[in-house]
Amino acid sequence: MTDDQPPTQIPTDVPASARIYGWTLGGKDNYEIDRKFALEYLPHFPEIVDIARENRLFLYRAVRYLTQEAGIRQFIDMGCGLPTENNVHQVARSFADDARVVYVDIDPIVLAHGRALLAGDGTTTVINADMRDTRAILDDPETKRLIDFSEPVAVLYLSIGHHLLDGDDPRRVVHGVLDRAVPGSHLVFTQITSADPARRAGMDAAANGAGMPWRTRSREEVDALLAGPAPVEPGLVDIRDWRPDPGQPPLAPVPAELAQFAGASKNHPDLCEYGGVLVK
Ligand SMILES: C[S@@+](CC[C@H](N)C(=O)[O-])C[C@H]1O[C@@H](n2cnc3c(N)ncnc32)[C@H](O)[C@@H]1O
Repeated sequence: MTDDQPPTQIPTDVPASARIYGWTLGGKDNYEIDRKFALEYLPHFPEIVDIARENRLFLYRAVRYLTQEAGIRQFIDMGCGLPTENNVHQVARSFADDARVVYVDIDPIVLAHGRALLAGDGTTTVINADMRDTRAILDDPETKRLIDFSEPVAVLYLSIGHHLLDGDDPRRVVHGVLDRAVPGSHLVFTQITSADPARRAGMDAAANGAGMPWRTRSREEVDALLAGPAPVEPGLVDIRDWRPDPGQPPLAPVPAELAQFAGASKNHPDLCEYGGVLVK
């Protein structure tokens, strides 16, 4: 889509998190406004390219853990993003072929691409919804069709905690589905954190100024947000340290225009994607 006209009803007058994130993973579904925003701010936050990619590698390890070790067979993936390689349903099915997945995203471009990918797949669906509206997600006919709340479910909030502002009551949002779920259900959460108030404020100003709701948090703030369910080993960490596996399937290469930023997080580990897997 890089140089094509976008499908109708897909907002392209503001940069979109789904498209920028997809670009860092090697995706092609992005527009000039996304690339312009990313290239303007990446010199200030070059770690973001590594962070996005590490998040996607964590997704694989977390879903593998959930299917192989925790016995989870049903997933709700909030803010799922554009389909790429090793999407949740594909990872889950590679370990458990009866896994069912409801993808949720607020961005209509995700719905359009998700539907194309999932055509004919009766046990995975994508719905266009706001993760802050737990009721709408639970009441959606597709959720009701695929998720059995008498069995454990995993609710994934991967690299989307920073899209929840304090005014959104993020604790209510993040725990909303889990509160409804049976013991043995899991919450998986990651978001961008920094211990440096100036960097947090700088990143928040850049994203919010471009129309993307954004709240970088400290690790302590995330710990408080997630308090309740028990973190599984190794706890809430920089997700690079969550059960690292050098042998896991690699991502597509970093796009050429972003290659200058790759590796930046090695010398600046403060800014990171922080989180883990928790069990009710
Ligand atoms: C950085 S991407 C993360 C993609 C995916 N979760 C992953 O970890 O690979 C963030 C996604 O959250 C979505 N998003 C942002 N705010 C949202 C909201 N309020 N409700 C649902 N999705 C939202 C964006 O459209 C985008 O696709």
